[in-house]
Amino acid sequence: MTTASPATALTDTVLYEERGGVALITIANPPVNGLGDMVRRGLADGMARAAAGAAVRAVVLQGAGKLFCGGADIRQFNTPAATAQPMLREVNRTIERAVKPVVACIHGVALGGGLELALACHYRIADAAAQLGLPEVNLGLVPGGGGTQRLPRLIGAPAALKFITSGKPVDARQALALGLVDAVIDGEREAAAIAFALDKADSAAHPVLADKPPAAMSAAEMKAQREALNPKARNATAQRTAVDCVQAATELEFEAGLDRERALFDGLVAGQPSKALRHLFFAEKEATKFSSTTARAIRSVAILGAGTMGGGIAMAFANAGYGVVLCEREQAALDRGLALVRRNYEISAAKGVLSAAEVEARLARIQPTLDMAAFADADLVIEAVFEDMAVKRAVFAQLDRICKSGAILATNTSRLNIDEIAAVTQRPQDVIGLHFFSPAHVMKLLEVVRGARTSDEVIAGCMRMAAAIAKIPVLVGVCEGFVGNRMLTGYWREAGFLLEEGATPAQIDAAMQGFGFAMGPLAMADLAGMDINWATRKRLAPTRPKHLRYSQVADRICEQGRFGQKTGAGYYRYEAGSRTPIPDPVVDGVIADCAREAGITRRAVSDEEIAERCVLALVNEGARIVAEGIAQRASDVDVVYVNGYGFPAWRGGPMFHARSLGWKQVLQKLQALHAQHGEHWVPAPWIVQQAGQA
Ligand code: COA
Repeated sequence: MTTASPATALTDTVLYEERGGVALITIANPPVNGLGDMVRRGLADGMARAAAGAAVRAVVLQGAGKLFCGGADIRQFNTPAATAQPMLREVNRTIERAVKPVVACIHGVALGGGLELALACHYRIADAAAQLGLPEVNLGLVPGGGGTQRLPRLIGAPAALKFITSGKPVDARQALALGLVDAVIDGEREAAAIAFALDKADSAAHPVLADKPPAAMSAAEMKAQREALNPKARNATAQRTAVDCVQAATELEFEAGLDRERALFDGLVAGQPSKALRHLFFAEKEATKFSSTTARAIRSVAILGAGTMGGGIAMAFANAGYGVVLCEREQAALDRGLALVRRNYEISAAKGVLSAAEVEARLARIQPTLDMAAFADADLVIEAVFEDMAVKRAVFAQLDRICKSGAILATNTSRLNIDEIAAVTQRPQDVIGLHFFSPAHVMKLLEVVRGARTSDEVIAGCMRMAAAIAKIPVLVGVCEGFVGNRMLTGYWREAGFLLEEGATPAQIDAAMQGFGFAMGPLAMADLAGMDINWATRKRLAPTRPKHLRYSQVADRICEQGRFGQKTGAGYYRYEAGSRTPIPDPVVDGVIADCAREAGITRRAVSDEEIAERCVLALVNEGARIVAEGIAQRASDVDVVYVNGYGFPAWRGGPMFHARSLGWKQVLQKLQALHAQHGEHWVPAPWIVQQAGQA
């Protein structure tokens, strides 16, 4: 006989229902069924009720809505709710020790604590479209609910170690192959889960991972996997800690392993790197948000300019399945651009990232042309030609004539005023900036620059498009250099001053790498090409206040025809075909000359001073950008700097870093620098305000 009881709520977020001898415990905590304190309590209550229910022979644990469970409630970390009883560890123990079989029925995703919960169940079945993963390392953490101890006991330590340190989810079929799930279901999920659970109800015993002995893995293999980790990864500490946890699973009994995992988790969750990575997790989601009732649809894309930028942008779209028209003025330039695109794809193929067929399929999506008339039907046109206002205006006047009504006309300018460009068209509402970062097929950041008259519909269309091509868009306003490059100006300014005061290029770069930057500011200038900034400085020279200190070093280096790597020399010199910067006495001479002419007595400059001045220059300008509304929020500045400029993710971006130092302390440092080095260091009023509120 089939019995059913109406679903009742154990807490606001967990439902309980008995159907045909099976207790259905359903997590209903939108948006991601996160395992907050109330959910954990509800799960424990549900298990108690199922144990007591005379008619209950088995239990199915599932998620309501789109997914099983997105893991711990990240927003609760570092709050009392995170450690409120019962902790996930206790809930898992209750599930594992249940006499009646418990089946996790996974759909959508089972991530982090969600998968740990499923691992505590006796059986796991997954919908064919489900994704399963332990992504904690991406947040600077390790699984803290027993995942590092149960998974090695289920799928073996070597596979578990890779699974946990990569943080990458697998799909249901891969999970089945790994032994992570017992079955993949194609049909009606709940019915399949109930049938599966009833089938197991009469078994004498159910698999309990906690009862298994430590997992096996040789010390040599453990060492090899540890050494294979990338020490420069943004989450390197968490990955190393994950190896420690798995090692514990190979050496300790289950309970002792759990204790070790918990202690390591507690250390990470309290630390700054994880707080910074969690800040970025939410900041990146926040940055993509833009509310508009309509969004302009983008199905076809055209790009003008097949240089490094244009080609990279074309690849970004082709990778996401878009057809792209790529236009150049001359055949030779078009051929060069396409050859570079092909070479980039072939490098990916050589690394095993792409198959030969996929390379051809992507290349086939890029349609080369010498005729801009081919742009007539494009929904989005991106101009990636020479960075010069007159050139851009001429191009936009032409695009205005050629492109269909409703097409979005975008410029990839990294500095120029979008409004001046838009003014040459009859449709300024359709003109926008899309500032891709080089190499555009790799870099995730996209500054979406709204002009004074850009319509919301166009902005919304571009924000949506960015997600479709796997970019992280940040909406910014018009000003010299927008967010990222505008902040670089102050950063490079301080680097120039520090050179004059006594530092060497190699010392500055090493100090900034020591702070955590992927690359120092001067090596970065050499990589990007010093001529571009030189042109900008010359353009802005007439408006530069003459009483302000100005370092001549960069200009003098450029005057010698040294533009960085592309000319074999810049702040450093480079051997032919090499990207390794070699300190150059010629540059030391230039620096010494500039210092002498400026009346500066050179002194020993410490690495701490270098890092502090360069980073605070970013922070002070970031604060002005926020106050002016050029960035919508301080966290957007962080997203830009981490994803576009190599700021260490584990420090959360310049604004999060400053907030963590404390705005009062930041203000004091700025005031001291102001007193010592003058007007460049006037503290941004926004920081004065933050310090007042602190
Ligand atoms: N805890 C708290 N909030 C979470 C969360 C979590 N574990 N996972 C997602 N959210 C929030 C998001 O910030 C977002 O909030 P918002 O609407 O206020 O912006 C909302 O839930 C929806 O998330 P979103 O990522 O936009 O939904 P999605 O359907 O695209 O993706 C997931 C869902 C679960 C795949 C994705 O959010 C994710 O990967 N989450 C992190 C999982 C994780 O790392 N778990 C381990 C925690 S230690």
